[in-house]
Amino acid sequence: MKLPTIDLHCHIEGAIHPDLLRRLADRNKIAIPDELLIEGGYYRWADFSGFLAAYDRVASIIRTQQDYRDIVYDYFVRAAATGMIYGEIFSSPDHAEAIGMDYPSMVDAMAQGLVDAQSDCGIHGRVIATCVRHLGPARARAVAETVCNYPHPTVTGFGMGGDERLHTMSDFAPAFDIARTAGLSLTVHAGEVCGADSVREALDVVKPQRIGHGVRAIEDTDLVQRLARDAVTLEICPGSNLALGIYPSRESHPFMKLRAPGCRVTLGADDPPFFGTCIEGEYSGMAASSGLSTSELLDISDCAADAAFCDSGTRLKLRQTIEHFRQTL
Ligand code: ADE
Ligand code: ZN
Repeated sequence: MKLPTIDLHCHIEGAIHPDLLRRLADRNKIAIPDELLIEGGYYRWADFSGFLAAYDRVASIIRTQQDYRDIVYDYFVRAAATGMIYGEIFSSPDHAEAIGMDYPSMVDAMAQGLVDAQSDCGIHGRVIATCVRHLGPARARAVAETVCNYPHPTVTGFGMGGDERLHTMSDFAPAFDIARTAGLSLTVHAGEVCGADSVREALDVVKPQRIGHGVRAIEDTDLVQRLARDAVTLEICPGSNLALGIYPSRESHPFMKLRAPGCRVTLGADDPPFFGTCIEGEYSGMAASSGLSTSELLDISDCAADAAFCDSGTRLKLRQTIEHFRQTL
């Protein structure tokens, strides 16, 4: 039996394996852009801006509902084979719109991928509809409205990724207010490329249950205490942080320093073929660099189960699976 892992932070457009991308390009009879560099099983890029551009190029190959279904199915089936029992995928209606697909079509197709993966592998998952920060507050608000006008049991959260260096969090308050009012759980990328102030701003303005990354909160002791006290869960993606050069090594990564004072910490792969990550590798990498025991790794899964944007029945199943594994130690 494999260690039961949970990934709360993975972008589905950023999780398309290059082999699958080639299959999609072939069947859609479109060429993969020359600018998109693929080496081995990975996409190559030079810096954060280059990564975001490469991400858009990959997403531009998606064309049909079958594509969305297959991307989700492929991701969950691969992850289940490594021990993942539950995953939440960010998915951006803006990327669907860019290829001419409306939001309901995108969501229905992704939900089918999840249903198929669950019936084949027993894995569970949910979708977090996500706006893209660098497309600006007006688009974010429009995305929130679109998402809330088509409520779907698979879509349980609303989030924001993209270029943290642009706009202020307050600019996006209306989008998050719409999502919160509609009952969606909230997570927002902050404290990844920008410092502790961005995390504080996210807490003040968005009042999210979770923060995407949030690692740079470590630069402010009071903020770390606030995160711990308010039980805000951090979706930490060490491999992604290393690939983007935010920290030079696993040893210098602040995961353990955030965990020590009681912050709720989970692990995510973010964009696997862009960063050379996978959820299993995030757990084993953390064990290797920090000496976490298997029982402590299970605590991370428990924390993720607690913070998952899912119903109580699903949460109970996740907890039971983790507990069952714990009994075998
Ligand atoms: N979109 C996909 N991955 C991202 C990341 N690591 N940071 C911001 N936006 C993203
Ligand atoms: Zn992310």
